[in-house]
Amino acid sequence: MNIKEFARRRKQLMRMMGEGSVAILPAAPVSIRNRDVDYRYRQDSDFQYLSGFPEPEAVIVLIPDRKHGEFILFCRERDVEMETWNGKRVGQEGACELYGADDSFPVNDLDEILPGMIEGCERVFYTMGTQPEFDQHVLQWVNKIRSMNRGGARAPGEFISLEHFLHDMRLYKSRAEVACHRKAMKVSVQAHKLAMKVCQPGMKEYEIEAEFLYHFQRNGMQPAYSSIVGSGANGCILHYTENSDTLHDGDLLLIDAGAEDECYAADITRTFPVNGVFSKAQKAVYEVVLNSQLAAIDKVRAGGHWNEPHQTAVQVLTEGLVELGILKGKVRALIKNEAYRRFYMHRTGHWLGMDVHDVGDYKVDSEWRELEPGMMLTVEPGLYIPAGSKGVAKKWWDTGIRIEDDVLVTRDEPKVLTGAAPKHIDDIQEWMASQA
Ligand code: GLY
Ligand code: MN
Ligand code: MN
Repeated sequence: MNIKEFARRRKQLMRMMGEGSVAILPAAPVSIRNRDVDYRYRQDSDFQYLSGFPEPEAVIVLIPDRKHGEFILFCRERDVEMETWNGKRVGQEGACELYGADDSFPVNDLDEILPGMIEGCERVFYTMGTQPEFDQHVLQWVNKIRSMNRGGARAPGEFISLEHFLHDMRLYKSRAEVACHRKAMKVSVQAHKLAMKVCQPGMKEYEIEAEFLYHFQRNGMQPAYSSIVGSGANGCILHYTENSDTLHDGDLLLIDAGAEDECYAADITRTFPVNGVFSKAQKAVYEVVLNSQLAAIDKVRAGGHWNEPHQTAVQVLTEGLVELGILKGKVRALIKNEAYRRFYMHRTGHWLGMDVHDVGDYKVDSEWRELEPGMMLTVEPGLYIPAGSKGVAKKWWDTGIRIEDDVLVTRDEPKVLTGAAPKHIDDIQEWMASQA
């Protein structure tokens, strides 16, 4: 991402904050996995959105109209010994030269420097509650200014949630952001196609997961979330991530996996037969889910509202369940009393962005939000019929199907960005049967 893009975002945020304000945003902390082993570092999405700065132990401070520079970045100092052990650091010079900071200071000097920057500002933009330890520091800095009140120091009178502004900005994707999403989606589609190709009865779910990890990593990407690779009964477990069972001939395999590029996610689900050919019963349920997904995607239109794709999916799924005899009764009543929820218990999608379940309000003034060009969301209906489902014929048992694509709202037609992963029955079967 070009650093001008980050500068543009900071400018936009600072315009909204107005004069007399300061925004404070800490980087994601390092998470301990066990003893002295850390999890692989992933920057906080808001922090990344405003800076692109990849290191932990850093704090962004934005002060609109500050004479000595509006964008101040506190970060770790260069340190030859530490860098020998743990890798390179950007340092203060790098923060200015590479990341466009107007000023940069060692993060260890926060306590000395930051209160002076907050002093005199009327409003502090800060997101409380996500990093409790850092919350305490912010309160200490403000209290320090309050305690100097008799010397003429003026503490800010207002605390405003930074995320409220930032998350609304993140909801509308720029051209550069869509390009990052597309890169992640392209690699994720390739991985789904590879998985379909290598899949054989007798393999383990984790072997299929390994195809994704390998393909992501060799393209310089990481998974955007823990991959779900659930065969047979496991396809009915919505957040199944153990991925430890054997793939059986005759079972379906549900894979929900996507990569992220520069923190921009792909989120794709495909369901296909382990042996490459859908059974009659699997075909019947699959067609219902596919039809509901196509109908829901068609509702991803500027001017429509957030809930329309979901309502449409529920309608088509319920009609299908009645046609197959899995639900009995009148469609309208089954929707009204939510009888379909036995087999479809989640919503049809979510915003997609730097966080796979991205930020942004779904309702505005208690009304479903209107879709606008630049918004990106998933469309992912499914049906889940576990073994033992009362009143449901055995032939439908252990059928878990979800089909998920990533869709961009445009001025015209919905733009499906992940459609290159086969999802029509014939396309899947042909692809799985074709030579490498
Ligand atoms: N991969 C998580 C979801 O589909 O919402
Ligand atoms: Mn999703
Ligand atoms: Mn998903």
